[in-house]
Amino acid sequence: MGAYPLPLEDRIILKSPQEIERMRASNRVVAEILQRVGAAVRPGVKTRELNALAEDLLRKYKARSAFKGYNGYPAVLCTSVNEEVVHGIPSDRVLKEGDIVSLDFGAVLDDYYGDAAITVPVGAISEEARRLLRVTEEALGKAIEQARPGNHVGDISAAIQGHVESRGFSAVRDFVGHGIGRFMHEKPQIPNFGSPGRGVRLKPGMTLAIEPMINAGGYGVEVLEDGWTAVTRDRSLSAHFEHSVAVTENGPDILSQL
Ligand code: MF3
Ligand code: CO
Repeated sequence: MGAYPLPLEDRIILKSPQEIERMRASNRVVAEILQRVGAAVRPGVKTRELNALAEDLLRKYKARSAFKGYNGYPAVLCTSVNEEVVHGIPSDRVLKEGDIVSLDFGAVLDDYYGDAAITVPVGAISEEARRLLRVTEEALGKAIEQARPGNHVGDISAAIQGHVESRGFSAVRDFVGHGIGRFMHEKPQIPNFGSPGRGVRLKPGMTLAIEPMINAGGYGVEVLEDGWTAVTRDRSLSAHFEHSVAVTENGPDILSQL
């Protein structure tokens, strides 16, 4: 995310294979908790209940929240419903049939961060909502495919932008993916739009949180009065999928995959 503090070090922090295994462990916890929280989504559930489940599971895994207390963020989970793009705060809001809800979750285990997000349907959803979820998840897959040595950050960005714009959607510009490791946000930033061949060159040992935030309408967003919840300016639907990925000699290694 753009405005977040970066580690004191301004350089890209490469990870050893041992460190990547530690990140796989923290990201596995994230993936398992996200899967269980996602399975709990249904009409009638309050977003606060999803947060409570995630908090419970964190204790069980003996992991710490990456989000709670971060710049004063009050929960362990972000729950962004419909036109909410990211950073929705869990509340007494009741999910209803036809909603979509983005679940963004981060954990720290053994000093390393994990970070991932999924968007899930609440009961039966519209055809357009289904298409938005599918295209956003596809964009993440295409972006990850570009996370290999010799490619550039711009190849990841362009893969996202190209895929979603060719389907009539738009990629959010005000929030970005990021390096991840001992800090939740490290260099480099990973925009969801850009040009092939531009930006930082990717090397083995880079660990990246790639997170397309895709709007059904225009790319503009605004932050609500609560200081956190980002919504689409045109109030169109928005979806978000995220994986933490290591760049290796053998190509992308998805750490937050079950
Ligand atoms: N996945 C988001 C990110 O990379 C979540 C941050 S939420 C916060 O920035 F609460 F921690 F700010
Ligand atoms: Co992230």
